[in-house]
Amino acid sequence: MYFGVDYHPEQWVFPYGGTREKPEAVWERDVELMQTAGVNVVRMGEFTWGLCEPEEGKYQFGWLKRVMNLLGKAGVKVVLATPTAAPPLWLARKHPEILPVDEHGLTKREGTRRAVCLNSDVYWNYSKRIVENMAKALGEHPQLIAWQIDNSLGGNFTEAAFNEDTRRDWHHWLEAKYETIERLNELMGLRHWGQIVSSWDQVPMPMTAPTVHNPALVVDWCRFCSDTIVQFVKMQADLLHQLTPKCPVTTNLRPLLHRFDHFDVAEAIDFVSIESTAALKAKSAELACEIDMLRSLKKMDIRTPNGDTGFWVMEQKAGNVTWQDVNSLVRPGVLRMFTYQLVSRGATAIVFFRWRQPRFGSEKFHGAVLPHNARDTARVFKEVAQLGDEMKLLGPSLRGTHVEAETCILYSHDNDWALQQPMQPNKHFSLREHIQLFYNALHDRNLTVDFARPTEDLSRYKLVFAPSLHLLSGGEADRLKLYVQNGGTLVATFNTGLVDEHNMAPDTGYPHDLTDLFGLEVLEFDQLPPGEENHLTFKGAFPASHMHPARLWCDIIEPNDCQVIATYAKDFYAGRPAMTMHTFGLGKAVYIGTQSHQYFYNDVVTWLRQMCNLQPLLKVPDSIEVSMRQKEDTKIFFLLNHQNSPQRIQFYKPMHDFLTGNTFSGNYDLPPGVLVLDEHPGTRT
Ligand code: GAL
Repeated sequence: MYFGVDYHPEQWVFPYGGTREKPEAVWERDVELMQTAGVNVVRMGEFTWGLCEPEEGKYQFGWLKRVMNLLGKAGVKVVLATPTAAPPLWLARKHPEILPVDEHGLTKREGTRRAVCLNSDVYWNYSKRIVENMAKALGEHPQLIAWQIDNSLGGNFTEAAFNEDTRRDWHHWLEAKYETIERLNELMGLRHWGQIVSSWDQVPMPMTAPTVHNPALVVDWCRFCSDTIVQFVKMQADLLHQLTPKCPVTTNLRPLLHRFDHFDVAEAIDFVSIESTAALKAKSAELACEIDMLRSLKKMDIRTPNGDTGFWVMEQKAGNVTWQDVNSLVRPGVLRMFTYQLVSRGATAIVFFRWRQPRFGSEKFHGAVLPHNARDTARVFKEVAQLGDEMKLLGPSLRGTHVEAETCILYSHDNDWALQQPMQPNKHFSLREHIQLFYNALHDRNLTVDFARPTEDLSRYKLVFAPSLHLLSGGEADRLKLYVQNGGTLVATFNTGLVDEHNMAPDTGYPHDLTDLFGLEVLEFDQLPPGEENHLTFKGAFPASHMHPARLWCDIIEPNDCQVIATYAKDFYAGRPAMTMHTFGLGKAVYIGTQSHQYFYNDVVTWLRQMCNLQPLLKVPDSIEVSMRQKEDTKIFFLLNHQNSPQRIQFYKPMHDFLTGNTFSGNYDLPPGVLVLDEHPGTRT
């Protein structure tokens, strides 16, 4: 298990620390304190281009080498970040064409990180050069165990630029995709408002215009911008693989936030890393959802520094951030709780952002392990050091374990981008919230969830949820059918299959290509404003625990040979099906034509849990979050009590507590906090 910090040694040289005679003296003290905190890895270098190449072609990697040597003496390993997230000022002055142009046609100026257009050939060439030189200078260093490519790609709203280089690449991309202008006009539906083109260079970039651009064009633009980012990552990954074949590469991601295809990026790197801001989410299930999403980005061909198959937490924010209106402190114990949440869901390394609060710059009051004064009596330092001790204890048992899920939620970026366009049937619909309703129900019943793209092989899952795949390609629809045909249980919802991969509505009935799978057709869809509700009336054995409302969206369904589970209670579609089930091949396809409150999704999961024979990881109260990591015959359970008071748990078998060595059986009052257990007393190493 790696445990460490994001380190910025460049900010701690004389006159900010050290002395004129020993300008780097702080580094020695840093390394000592790191050892006290149990640190065995640091990530560094992500914004150091201007320091490593202060003038064009003049490289200075010696200082980084000296830091690495010092860390080496203490046995601390290093993940080096390629510094392309922050171009040096001399480059922008020499080549202003690398600066990104925004959607209004205005150039964003130099002087901050991310001031680049990723379609710029000039920028690519300079990036290649700095990466190559860094890899040649430091790639053989014994402390180096991995590379991080760039930093927080797409951050600060930099997924797209509208430069002339971008326009050129966009047109090439379109040409490669559509081959002929006729196909482009046809498949994009450019007859709308007479926006047909007669040559590739007439196709606009979706810059600010009087009203909305053609949504098919905008989704293609999102795909193109995503491909640009993926290619930039791939360019660096290829270089690094070639120059330092032993070092795996990663990049730090914020799942579901930045606008590029994270699954595609995950394919280009060896392992995935998350940035986590534990204290900012209102609900632990929201964080858990993002962690599971991140873990799911890469399920195969994972290569980490120590051979484990999990993911890394490259930036676990050690305290408050600086980018909210009010940046509250992270309460005592909260960091520990959410660090365990990450470990419980598959993290094999925890790296805290950041080691020490810097004395200058826009993030000088960002929370850190050490405050400005670097005292080891600081509250956060002590919490982190305690975690360091605990991870040392747990590490050997967690080695080789992984998280396994029997349920899955489908997500595709293409679909999300289509849904982010204006002029949707209901602007109050949020895919993220819809996904979270299903996720909460599974999470609260301690059923482990993976995420997957609809095109993945789903056969390993007993139950698959497909919330609102509004944009669904023919290939994706085929995958879903295959899954059910072979015995899977699929739950899809309203706002599914309303357009194909070209953003074209079907003329064969909704949901596109799936009417046979669900044994129904959606004839129309009614939209409800917030606060207005219809109601569901259940038939048969559905275990409705409450009155369930129908909100936002009501599909008007013509049943074919499906079974009706619930109908609407009122309006002109009263008595029409709102929820159905259909046997298809060896499996079942459930359709939910509306959105409801959380209790409904809880009931859906209770109902399907029995139908699909899904067992919760442990039987504990809903308020306890349980996750499990396993290998061969070992199962390690993590119990997180997020409440302020103890929660009673009953153990049917003796359980062994890894952190205290105690054995429990029968009733146990779990205090707020964490318990790490296994079923086999005596296996602790
Ligand atoms: C991250 C970024 C860090 C730092 C942090 C602040 O996204 O990678 O460099 O800016 O946010 O919370």
